[in-house]
Amino acid sequence: MKRFVLSRRWRILLSIVAVLQFAACDSVTVEKYHYNGIIATASPIATDIGLNILRDGGNAVDAAVAVGCALAVCYPEAGNIGGGGFALIYDADLGNITALDFRETAPASASRKMYLDSRGEVIASSSLLGAGAAGVPGTVAGLFEMWKKYGSMDWYRLLEPAIKLADTGFILDAYLTNKFAEYAKDLSIFPETKKVFFKNGAVLGQGDRLVQTDLAMTLERIGLDGLDGFYSGTTADMIVQSMQNNGGLISYEDLAGYRPLWREPVHFTFDSLDVYSMPPPSSGGVILGEILKILEPFNFIKYTPSHPEYMHIFAEACRLAYADRAVHLGDPDFTVNPVLELLDPQYLESRRALINLQSTANSSEIGSGLPEKSVVESESTTHFCIADKSGNVVSLTYTINASFGSKLVVDSAGFLLNNEMDDFSIKPGVPNMYGLIGGKANEIEPGKRMLSSMSPTIVMNGDRPLLALGAPGGSKIITTVAQAIINFTRFGMNLQKVVEHPRFHHQWLPDTLYLEVGGFDINIKQDLISRGHLIKEREPYSDLQIIYIGSNRLMMGASDPRKDGKTAGY
Ligand code: DON
Repeated sequence: MKRFVLSRRWRILLSIVAVLQFAACDSVTVEKYHYNGIIATASPIATDIGLNILRDGGNAVDAAVAVGCALAVCYPEAGNIGGGGFALIYDADLGNITALDFRETAPASASRKMYLDSRGEVIASSSLLGAGAAGVPGTVAGLFEMWKKYGSMDWYRLLEPAIKLADTGFILDAYLTNKFAEYAKDLSIFPETKKVFFKNGAVLGQGDRLVQTDLAMTLERIGLDGLDGFYSGTTADMIVQSMQNNGGLISYEDLAGYRPLWREPVHFTFDSLDVYSMPPPSSGGVILGEILKILEPFNFIKYTPSHPEYMHIFAEACRLAYADRAVHLGDPDFTVNPVLELLDPQYLESRRALINLQSTANSSEIGSGLPEKSVVESESTTHFCIADKSGNVVSLTYTINASFGSKLVVDSAGFLLNNEMDDFSIKPGVPNMYGLIGGKANEIEPGKRMLSSMSPTIVMNGDRPLLALGAPGGSKIITTVAQAIINFTRFGMNLQKVVEHPRFHHQWLPDTLYLEVGGFDINIKQDLISRGHLIKEREPYSDLQIIYIGSNRLMMGASDPRKDGKTAGY
């Protein structure tokens, strides 16, 4: 039989076509597996530092401490020791998940009307700018508490990479250069802050080295003295001095009295999976649960991730869930959070029954409403997830709230203070910087934790972790995480597609469906408008970090392409 032989040129051409097809097809995109550990963070420098800890025999919590401190140096817009956050930790030995709350607290002298003038109006920027906007920082206590319970390496050893990084500095990459340029005006308000991020009167730019010797000294004190290196002694003196100079409220007693708290994670099932996420004082877990449970019975066979009917029901589920957020949730040590009631199947059934497949509800019919306030957005929270070779997993989100927090660096201590007080409902019904409104459950009280949307999450498949994920984005964190879970589990996307896929968001008020610009074509938009949605496009948002642990502990992960994060493993 005569053999048919292709010419060399044809063979090359056909292989190019095959490669292009391969690359275009979701299901065959090659993702790299790791066997011993994986880590996904918003910063390549921090990822490498965490990976070194894992390689040197540290566990996931050791690596999380090192990464948390490193991000405070190399990712100053959000990484921090002057803020707070939440962590979910899977302990492979015990097979359980714990949640650590190291959210900031209102200072003891804070009061309900502290941001209002004599006429009861909000004093512009008072909950956002400077010392008066800062809650008592929880990050150092949180990292120390995690380490005390689960860490295996010497504490100082975990801070050492961050100390060195702050002391020797690092060359600014394009991402940080742009951030500094964007926030140059705000960062020039306080001389203490200018000292760190400006050179010869101009904000640091591409190619400049960011050296933070004061921060290195603060980290050194924390490394040597643990909690006392931050909550008392020299660092506490500096914080209190900064408060006195700039009109803030945090006192020595506030610092000495700060305590992180272990909490029971919110747990619910989604299809055959168990989802664990952050309980109050974060709204994240409860609202994520409401959204996913309302959607669970819908038949997704006819949908794609950008199918307008799917987007419509997703938005309607969010509208219903976020309406509950505004009324019911706050610090559980101050207010009763009806978590079980909100996730009760009968209640969810009654909420689901309100969804009309063809048209939107009106938010004002679902709960009380307010006109939209122009919302100042920023990307100033950061999430990272880590799995180690023993199967332990950390999913951690922490923040200073706005980009570069309150914009105030504690003089001589070298770190930015948060402006988390804005997450309280500073006046009932007045939106915060993410457009969220709240009421009594989230009003300011001394020592209280402000309600958050941060949603560090771990999804379990039977008795093993399957996914760890989380994101920044203020109110949009919860919808980002919900869409990631649905896109992975129901739409079968691989991790890279999960982080890339265009996002959309609804939060009850403002009564608007936000679409990521460029992500949805005109037919989709027209369909959504015909269902009654008011649509607004917005710039790309969130910075999803996600890891996957397969059977036999094969691990992979992905960092959001909207930012410059890095996933690595070994
Ligand atoms: O705790 C919260 O919900 C907010 N302070 C988080 C802020 C945030 O995600 C900013 N990043 N975009």
